[in-house]
Amino acid sequence: MKHLLSIETLAKSDLETILADSVGIKQARGQHAKLPLAGQTWAMLFSKSSTRTRVSFEVGIRELGGQAIFLPASEIQLGRGEPIKDTARVLGRMVHGVVFRTFAQSDVEEFAQYASIPTINALTDREHPCQILTDIFTFQEQRGSIQGKVVAFIGDGAGNVATSWAFAAAKAGFELRIAAPKAFQPPADLVQRAGGKIVLTEDVKAAASGADLLYTDVWVSMGRESESAERVRQMSGYQVNAALVQVARPGALVMHCLPAYRGKEIDEATFESNAQTIFDQAENRLHVQKAILSWLVR
Ligand code: CP
Ligand code: NVA
Repeated sequence: MKHLLSIETLAKSDLETILADSVGIKQARGQHAKLPLAGQTWAMLFSKSSTRTRVSFEVGIRELGGQAIFLPASEIQLGRGEPIKDTARVLGRMVHGVVFRTFAQSDVEEFAQYASIPTINALTDREHPCQILTDIFTFQEQRGSIQGKVVAFIGDGAGNVATSWAFAAAKAGFELRIAAPKAFQPPADLVQRAGGKIVLTEDVKAAASGADLLYTDVWVSMGRESESAERVRQMSGYQVNAALVQVARPGALVMHCLPAYRGKEIDEATFESNAQTIFDQAENRLHVQKAILSWLVR
């Protein structure tokens, strides 16, 4: 039984397979020779808001021949306290796979353990594995292999997106520089587990200097709203803007997983001048989700 629970637990060879398959799946949109989800129904269990992940999976499941049912956690008994493991055992008997967005990473892991159906982490507080697969795919589509390149992550270096980037560094062979205030840098044990070349710094210009990719995510992730004022105060110097683009490698890409908060993690002008790449990245969520789904059911 295959799952996609994290980049940490995804084998390097599987990461490579998903990225390679995404190329052909994108090209073949609308004319897929095989429909690997034919006859299947997948549940989309979401405890947090979503635009891209929700729509890309719903459309992707349909385009691969399956059906998707959207289950907001607040509208099923899970939201009234039914345990994850019971929800998992029920859904496991009715649907063929689940796409699960929630808070605790342990909830997705417990779901996978009890449901006995392929389970996809569609974002937890710990990781956002589908996003990082798309990000690497998008970089490689536009700039060739990411191996040996320098990725500068600016902002909330301890969030789910940064953490998935950290676990991807060794597997995809790029250097990751994380520029964040000390309180928002990933813990040392995580960096050690990730291996590879990861540099942590409070010096945002040093991180961006000569980088091939400038990347950022929101300063206030879902579930962290009560920390909003403190996060904005601490991260205010960690913005992707013209000054950073200037020190990056000429032609460096600027990417954002979205949603974007202008004036916070990125300024309006930098966002709009890189909108083509950022919305290619958003579109690619669809193609890469289809590669993930196809890999899971093989
Ligand atoms: N980037 C991303 O996962 O967006 P959504 O929260 O809209 O799914
Ligand atoms: N780090 C963000 C990602 C949103 C796609 C969050 O968790 O809200």
